[in-house]
Amino acid sequence: MVQATPFLLVLFLALGAHGVSVKKCSLTGRWVNDLGSNMTIGTVNADGSFVGSYHTAVTATSNEIKVSPLQGSMQKSPNQKGQPTLGFSVNWSFSDSITVFTGQCFVDDDGKEVLKTMWLLRSRVENIKNDWKATRIGNNVFTRL
Ligand code: BTN
Repeated sequence: MVQATPFLLVLFLALGAHGVSVKKCSLTGRWVNDLGSNMTIGTVNADGSFVGSYHTAVTATSNEIKVSPLQGSMQKSPNQKGQPTLGFSVNWSFSDSITVFTGQCFVDDDGKEVLKTMWLLRSRVENIKNDWKATRIGNNVFTRL
């Protein structure tokens, strides 16, 4: 029994540390990405759905940038092991475009939450012949503000 105590203590601390890292990946709050865009996400509902707002720092248009709504979903299946996957779309209020993001919320080695995402930006084109040039692809890394 005496010999088992240090082992149990180490096990408890290891599980505790793991539990903390899993819990920290919460989407709610304010985020900034590598382009300087700001995003605010509200409460994540029990089914994983959420809404928020997005203030992009850049645009593919010549329009004045305005804060735009986003809606998304975070994986909340029963076998979720932390560091959840997620997706959201931004319906730009100042252009004809839509962007969809997909990614994962990680806790990095310093215990900081990081959203690693990829995105597709669909711009409106005048006709089907221009469809080939209507979609841009990229990645963004978000950190908590
Ligand atoms: C548009 O130009 O039609 C709307 C704005 C698009 C901004 C893009 S979405 C992907 C990338 N990440 C950002 O934070 N902003 C750009």
